[in-house]
Amino acid sequence: MNPSTYNITLLPGDGIGPEVVAEAVKVLSRVSELYDFGLLFETALIGGAAVDDLANPYPPQTHEACKRADAVLLGAVGGPKYDTLPKALRPETGLLSMRKALDVFANLRPVAVDGVQAARSPLRPEKVAGTDLLVVRELVGGIYFGTPSYRNDVEGVSTMRYTKPEIERIARIAFATARDRRNKVTSVDKANVLAVSQLWREVVQEVRDAEFEDVQLEHMYVDNAAMQLILNPRQFDVILTGNLFGDILSDASAVLPGSLGMLPSASIGESSSLFEPIHGSAPDIAGKGIANPAAAILSGAMMLDYLGQKEAAAAIRNAVANTLLDGFVTSDLASDVVLALTTSAFGDEVIKRLVADVE
Ligand code: NAD
Ligand code: IPM
Ligand code: MN
Repeated sequence: MNPSTYNITLLPGDGIGPEVVAEAVKVLSRVSELYDFGLLFETALIGGAAVDDLANPYPPQTHEACKRADAVLLGAVGGPKYDTLPKALRPETGLLSMRKALDVFANLRPVAVDGVQAARSPLRPEKVAGTDLLVVRELVGGIYFGTPSYRNDVEGVSTMRYTKPEIERIARIAFATARDRRNKVTSVDKANVLAVSQLWREVVQEVRDAEFEDVQLEHMYVDNAAMQLILNPRQFDVILTGNLFGDILSDASAVLPGSLGMLPSASIGESSSLFEPIHGSAPDIAGKGIANPAAAILSGAMMLDYLGQKEAAAAIRNAVANTLLDGFVTSDLASDVVLALTTSAFGDEVIKRLVADVE
């Protein structure tokens, strides 16, 4: 019998991107042996690395490599070296162009905090233990892409626009996902002020009433949501929101497990899928070998789930949880910096705990 083989395009990117992607690849390669499937990796340039070599943060050959892949795994892009470049050459522009070109409109950012991780949160452990939420962030619309968008010396303009079909398709993802979880969606907007949010709220409610009557829907203003996320995170199941609010709320939610280095994501479209940690290139720690690779490794697990290798995905999640349970952490989570593991030592500990047939 021929085992399945998947073509994965790797986009390590900038800063800590290559450091954490290397650990994800190590773990994925090992789990593919244990679970008897194949992974064929191809590496392509994005962000600053692509600007350096090809003067384009999302070169056509990278787009082709993404389109022919079964899934794309990305590290991070950006860094101070590129911050003064014109917009078209900025690493972030490359990332946004890729998301748009692949039309990966649904960005899923899960946040689950067990008792072990709760104890490492700067918040009170009894408040955050048991958090299990999913931010469903619209990824290819909203103020990131709305026109007009320009600046001159005296005026800067960005436009937050959503159309009804854009809201409907992301709402359907949120409601359908909630059915596999605890059946509750909190839609986050700023409908008390913004016209775009008023349409958002109406359309989300319509989709729920027409197609998902069994799912509970509540609406919350984004300012309150930012506070509720820290105050009482267990109230949330699925948080449905637009591009900008989702970006901000998901970084804020990283305080719950104690580090941005813990949170993975999946970005799904009709024909492409992209997996990336929610964090950036972390220029303050890049090159030191101390970044937390858990977010990248867990993004690899989300990728395997998407590819249908659910047991292998569960094995990775278990191995990461057991590594953390056994007290092995990188410096972002260590109470005593002397005991902190390097990026690659953390990856090695995860690999030691990978076993076949967890479930
Ligand atoms: P950042 O996410 O890179 O870092 C924020 C803070 O979190 C830093 O103190 C960093 O050291 C820490 N951190 C992040 N990931 C970590 C990890 N895995 N382990 C340990 N600590 C970690 O955000 P920033 O500093 O605002 O942005 C830096 C650059 O990254 C910018 O150029 C930005 O545009 C870019 N960025 C890219 C992405 C992406 O590629 N998806 C996401 C966010 C930011
Ligand atoms: C993220 C990042 C990106 C975003 C930036 C780098 C364009 O912050 O993936 O969360 O804002 O979407
Ligand atoms: Mn972000």
